Amino acid sequence: MKLWSGRFTAELNEIAELFNDSLAFDRTMYRQDIAGSVAHCKMLGKCGIIDAKERDAICAALDGILADIDGGKLEIVGAEDIHSFVENELVRRAGDVGKKLHTARSRNDQVATDIRLYLRDCIDKTVALLKSLARALTDKADAEKLTAMPAYTHMQKAQPTTLGHYLCAYANMFVRDADRFKDCRKRVNVLPLGSGACASTTFPIDREYTAKLLGFDGVTQNSLDGVSDRDFAIEYLSCAAQTMLHLSRINEEFVYWSGEEFGFIALPDEYSTGSSIMPQKKNPDVNELLRGKSGRVVGDLVTMLTVMKGLPLAYNKDMQEDKEPLFDADATLELSLRVFTAFINKVGFNRAALNAAAAGGYSCATECADYLASRGLPFRSAHEVTGRIVLYCVENGKTLQNMTVEEYKQFSPLFDGGILTAVQPQSAIARRNVIGGCAPSELDRQIATLRAECDRL
Ligand code: ARG
Repeated sequence: MKLWSGRFTAELNEIAELFNDSLAFDRTMYRQDIAGSVAHCKMLGKCGIIDAKERDAICAALDGILADIDGGKLEIVGAEDIHSFVENELVRRAGDVGKKLHTARSRNDQVATDIRLYLRDCIDKTVALLKSLARALTDKADAEKLTAMPAYTHMQKAQPTTLGHYLCAYANMFVRDADRFKDCRKRVNVLPLGSGACASTTFPIDREYTAKLLGFDGVTQNSLDGVSDRDFAIEYLSCAAQTMLHLSRINEEFVYWSGEEFGFIALPDEYSTGSSIMPQKKNPDVNELLRGKSGRVVGDLVTMLTVMKGLPLAYNKDMQEDKEPLFDADATLELSLRVFTAFINKVGFNRAALNAAAAGGYSCATECADYLASRGLPFRSAHEVTGRIVLYCVENGKTLQNMTVEEYKQFSPLFDGGILTAVQPQSAIARRNVIGGCAPSELDRQIATLRAECDRL
């Protein structure tokens, strides 16, 4: 039965009903919907709006509905939305007393409450998953802190660094992602129930009490705002999209690192797939999907922004469109974080290939310029001299490492035997011991900081 049939004489057209109903997707929030109703019912009892007997009868029936859905005994079908479904079932079980539950409440504040409860759980789960991922990356970084590799700018070899340094970079991003979700939670965890349809209620309700029962930190301060904004959902989707972007970037690296041209990683059999025609293939499908699925979640964010743009106060049915992007983002993010953490724990790095690549592309040219600058030549001039040395190497098929001291001396009298050590990748790495650098001692500090950050999350 519709919750609003009194004013109508004809049934909703079949296709219009199909179009209007949200049960097919908002059934996902049945736990939140029932929890919100139980708290609302207890509040009505506390405030004397219903009596204790009525309160107990309604709460007992709601508990029974929850148990039956959880246990697979009650199928969620045959109603307009989850709110109607639970209320219809309540009345079916408890009789007329069930019809009192909706006193001082509207589906508008009810649905806003359900979504906030739902997102709060999503956030807590996501923070835990991000913590595991950041830990897995930090552990890998610790194991690879002496593995040299090139750092790139413009996708060209730029300076030597270590794989540990590289992995810590991403671990830092995922820690920040977790912090963003935690910050967003503060704005999600505010109770809109009591806002009513839009202009609140005439009943003497106790919103703070309902908030306490449901674990909210406070209540929304304006009923029109309470039922009509979804900024907290947009913020959640923005956090989700940002996390997916980070996943997309690191997986893009792994896709090309797995190719023969790079050969930096050996894809684990458990996380790659073959080709139906090319027997030799081992494809980075998981990494590609992690890259591709970022598009979905960015799309979910754009959907929500577009739905809300230009909506007048207060509730508009457009807002029913908030759920599918939220559910999709949550499901995509959860699966992505789980599979990628498992991948990181399993993936093997080809240390020989990474170390060999570190010195390529004259990546130690900055060392040469720094060497001259530390001996008194202004850096700009040192840069100029080094540029000429690189040109000499290019034209004579030499590397900065196999140049002789005499050759170096032809470019500047400031060179001595020390230059041959200075242009070794390991030496370049070891001397970068400033905060944020790639020296093993500094990386130890970064790793310790990351571990402490993960514990704090
Ligand atoms: N299914 C609706 C939604 O998700 C619930 C609120 C309905 N409110 C209303 N006034 N029709 O937004």
